[in-house]
Amino acid sequence: MYNSNPTLESVGKKVDESKQGEVFFQEDTDDGRKKFYIESYGCQMNFSDSEIVASILGEAGFSPTRNMEASDLILINTCSIREKAEQTVRKRLRIFDKVKKQRPGTLVGVLGCMAERLKKKFLEEEKLVDIVVGPDAYRDLPGLVAGAEEGHKGVNVFLSREETYADISPMRLDSNGVSAFISIMRGCDNMCSFCVVPYTRGRERSRNAFTIVAEATNLAERGYKEVTLLGQNVDSFKWENPETGKVVNFAELLIMVAEVSPDMRVRFSTSHPKDITDDVLYAIRDHENICNYIHLPVQSGNSRILKLMNRTYDRPWYEAKVKRIYEIIPDCAISSDIITGFCTETEEEHQDTLSVIKFARYSMSYMFFYSERPGTLAARKYEDDIPLEVKKSRLTEIIYLQNDISRALNAADVGKTFKVLIEGDSKKSDKEFKGRNSQNKMIIFPKKGDLKTGDYVHVKVHTSNSATLKGDIV
Ligand code: 5AD
Ligand code: SF4
Repeated sequence: MYNSNPTLESVGKKVDESKQGEVFFQEDTDDGRKKFYIESYGCQMNFSDSEIVASILGEAGFSPTRNMEASDLILINTCSIREKAEQTVRKRLRIFDKVKKQRPGTLVGVLGCMAERLKKKFLEEEKLVDIVVGPDAYRDLPGLVAGAEEGHKGVNVFLSREETYADISPMRLDSNGVSAFISIMRGCDNMCSFCVVPYTRGRERSRNAFTIVAEATNLAERGYKEVTLLGQNVDSFKWENPETGKVVNFAELLIMVAEVSPDMRVRFSTSHPKDITDDVLYAIRDHENICNYIHLPVQSGNSRILKLMNRTYDRPWYEAKVKRIYEIIPDCAISSDIITGFCTETEEEHQDTLSVIKFARYSMSYMFFYSERPGTLAARKYEDDIPLEVKKSRLTEIIYLQNDISRALNAADVGKTFKVLIEGDSKKSDKEFKGRNSQNKMIIFPKKGDLKTGDYVHVKVHTSNSATLKGDIV
């Protein structure tokens, strides 16, 4: 996802790898308005934020374009999660600079997680950038652009305790008209020792539950069939209705959104093992349209490393959670995030990570080697002492194991029939559709009749590999 070479730093498709940095828009219109071009990197949250940015700029009189060379404003929504992600952004900025030189007057803005960390460098040392805006300051963007047009470099990296953009109706950029993200909370209070997010995205805050339901209702009315509720730690969602004092928790929110339309699927990401409750599991079990899929990052299978990572659970706790999930929702798929080569990790401790993958039977995992991030607890307290080759060879081992497990789990789906939401044509052929089942597995099948994107069909699986299932409509 963050790297074009999945065998080295990461593997998996949290945001479809092919989409990293891509721009998606409705067709360009020659409407005489100023044009902005936006690229997004990193997690789903960032892609969702770009839709908020697009909405704010739309209100301010801008239209989106997919043509960088024709834009008045080039924006890049950045990610700081690993060093590699930051390097990618630096490369893109050099390319934007060339466009700027050919088209004087074009403005370049850096948004998102790298803004706070690197504002000085971007503005002063490199002079590549006109505007730097952090994740909580997007409402300020039109003003900063106006200032930059007058020649004043603009910066706002203020992190808020309140901002949730609750009232902003995102401009759907990557729209197949079927699936949409809904951001339900921002920031993170967990302080995992490896993670830069609490520093780049600030304190955790939950969005007004009624505005979330209103956004889901609006999407359903427009024909959307799937929403993904997004947050760094959705299970700690907690919103107090100021009028009644009643607190809405995540399980309750899930049900509220599921009740918007029985025809609209509800997904969510990311769950923290310490916070996911039985009530969430019961909500999934009891609502057909809440998908049987939980992204439950383990990070490491070893209790000592988990303690150093400040994950606040240990191996037995994690195993108990996994058991509980399969007990309450037997056909649930679970996926994970895993880091290899965290500070002081021994070979034996790495073996524990291999064994937790086997125990949890993940349908898939996003796998990374540890990358020290400046300012984090780990960077301050622990030595990044595992040699890169060791981190990488451990990563390769877990990738192979995960592939074997994904392949075996997918093979066990052969012969089963799943309800699939059609997402569009398959990558390889316009004679085939692609879609997902409740467990989030991609299924490819030949088109039939007048079925179209956004329809549900039942597909019987006849073939599988580690990444996809193939089948026929029944
Ligand atoms: N190094 C490697 N991987 C990291 N992640 C977060 N911070 C780091 C880091 N410093 C991974 C975690 C997290 C996912 C989004 O990225 O696995 O769950
Ligand atoms: Fe998303 Fe985290 Fe990357 Fe920021 S640092 S873009 S929150 S993954």
